Order: sequence, then C-alpha cells, then structure tokens
Amino acid sequence: MTEFKPLVFSGVQPTGNLHLGNYLGAIRKFVALQENNDCIYCVVDLHALTAQLVHEDMATQIRSITAAFLAAGIDPKKHIVFNQSQVPQHAELAWIFNCVARIGWMNRMTQFKDKAGKDREQASLGLYAYPSLMAADILVYRATHVPVGEDQKQHLELARDIAMKFNMDFNEKIRPTGLGIDIKVGEEPVHAYFPMVEPLIDGPAPRVMSLKDGTKKMSKSDPSDLSRINLMDDQDAISKKIRKAKTDPDALPGEVDGLKGRPEADNLVGIFAALADKSKADVLSEFGGQQFSVFKPALIDLAVEVLAPINAEMRRLMEDPGHIDAVLRDGGERARTRAEKTMNEVRDIIGFVR
Ligand code: TRP
Repeated sequence: MTEFKPLVFSGVQPTGNLHLGNYLGAIRKFVALQENNDCIYCVVDLHALTAQLVHEDMATQIRSITAAFLAAGIDPKKHIVFNQSQVPQHAELAWIFNCVARIGWMNRMTQFKDKAGKDREQASLGLYAYPSLMAADILVYRATHVPVGEDQKQHLELARDIAMKFNMDFNEKIRPTGLGIDIKVGEEPVHAYFPMVEPLIDGPAPRVMSLKDGTKKMSKSDPSDLSRINLMDDQDAISKKIRKAKTDPDALPGEVDGLKGRPEADNLVGIFAALADKSKADVLSEFGGQQFSVFKPALIDLAVEVLAPINAEMRRLMEDPGHIDAVLRDGGERARTRAEKTMNEVRDIIGFVR
C-alpha cells in the first residue's frame, strides 16, 4: 500500500473585493500550509464566468487576488501561483469529468440550487458544470489536500466521487500502464490513478459575520460597505468600520458560553481571536467584564497591526501590474508542465491516440 505524494491545491474566484472573511478563512491558511507542503494556488478565472459572463474589470480582479496572495506571504517561487485560464488542461480534464459525473450527482449540488435560484432554465451550463471543473482543477495535479470553507465540502465530495468512478471504470486500463497506486478507501483496497482528495477545513478560521448583522456572513455582495472589512481598506476605513460595528449594550462575558444569543459580540470576539491567533476563551479571560468602548479600540489596534502591512503591500503590487503578470505567467508555465503530464497519462489510460 502506498500513498499519493501530498500536494495542496486551492482556488479563489476573481470576483469582488477580498474581505477579512476571505483572509482569515482561506488566504491565511494558504500561507501557513506552505511551510510543510508543496502548494498550488490558483485564481480561478474560468469559474468566474459561470454566474456572470462579462466582467468589465476581469484583469484587475485577477491581479488583485494575486496581489493579496503575495502580500499575505505566499511565496510564488517555492510554490505555484497562477490563473486558471493559462492552463487549458483544467478545461480539458473537466470535459472528461463531465462524462464521468452523473446528472443525478450534479442535481444534488446545493450551491447550484442556491446560485441558480428560481429561474434554473436561465442559469448557464457552466454554473451547472462548475463542480466538475473544480474537480479537474485539483485532480489535474493529482493534488491530495484542499483548504476550503465549509461551503465547498460538497464539491470536494463530488471530486472524490468523480475520482473513484474514473479509477473503477478505467481499472483494467490503469493497471497495465503502471501509473496507478494501491490505496485504501475506507477498508476497500482500490487501484487508483486519481487520489481521494481531502478537505482541510479545521483550524482556527472562524465564520466571519457581517459587522452590521451578526447572523449574516460577511460578504462581498452586501450592499453596505460598512458590513465588511476589505483587504484594500486603509487604517481609517478599518477603524471607522469597527467603531460603527453593531453591538449590544452589555459588557463582554467572562466565558464563551456567555456569547450565546449575542451574535454581534460573538463575531467581534471571534475576529479578535482569529487575528491574535488565540481562542475566544483567551480573549474573554482578558476582556470579560469590559464594555465595547474598551474592547473596540483594542480590536482596531489589532486589526490595523495585522492588516495594514498587507494592505500597503497590495497597493504597492497593484501599481506594478507588469510584475504581477510575470508572476502569473511563470506560475502558469510551471503548472502547465505538471498538468500536461497528467493529461498525457489520462489520454493513454482512455486510449486516445497521440
Ligand atoms: N469553488 C471554490 C470557491 O468558491 C473556488 C474553487 C474553484 C476551488 N476551484 C477550486 C477551491 C479548487 C479549491 C479547489 O471557494
């Protein structure tokens, strides 16, 4: 029994401004993972077409996510940073996966149901096939670990189902090539070409909620900019938004239990804890009994300390789009080499003539 070589892959769509929730929930995890793993981080521009075809500022959005990756500390030389459209093998493998995945599986995807809304007939075919492309993003590198938010878990399960069916259906073709390895799926031994990807969901990343309503997720589509802290916000904007954040009139509790039924207090304590890399209990042992008039200034200082350097670096990078494009081209080239190796193997397994 062997194992696939560990490889981390994740993707972020170039739509809308990145905010604190994206940073704490995703990008900061990407940064931490590069210490001990080989990592590929992708700006998934092909995915951005699924809900809306025409984007006035597509190039700027792609560069801005890339700038956030770099400013947060992702090393594009040791790892790979690129935008999806530079590696056509993603779309090619996605086509093959469209023929592996079953319509019944796609019909279960809750994100499609949410995004397509009532008028499903008018949703794009791309939105429907979105999870198949996502599976291809990951599996074209035979990546094993994917840091994502809770909301993407179902898509990763689909990626496993696709990998499993491919492995099973092509079993007799994979064996003679010597490209597969024997893995265990549960108790079951399987000869596999594609790994069973695992989500990396745990860790301190909190669900960052809106600053105006502690029961709603912080979101780039919220009409009120005061509801979120954007990664491009400067010091003044950060402090204004935290000062104006909704709270309740009570002092902070001494224990985590005391946050129940107080969504805004819970959210601000959670944000403090995440930014400080502490638990909520730690934060409350420091601030329990204090009013928000004391807690908010401390949160502002901490948020500025963590976010201001990232903000400054993002602005600096965005002034030199040529540099960002060069990083993406270099990453794209290295990604393409790896992806083409997989595609050649897949072509051989299927029996395409080349
Ligand atoms: N669907 C992911 C999201 O919205 C983005 C994504 C696309 C992705 N391809 C991926 C994430 C591959 C991880 C791996 O967050």
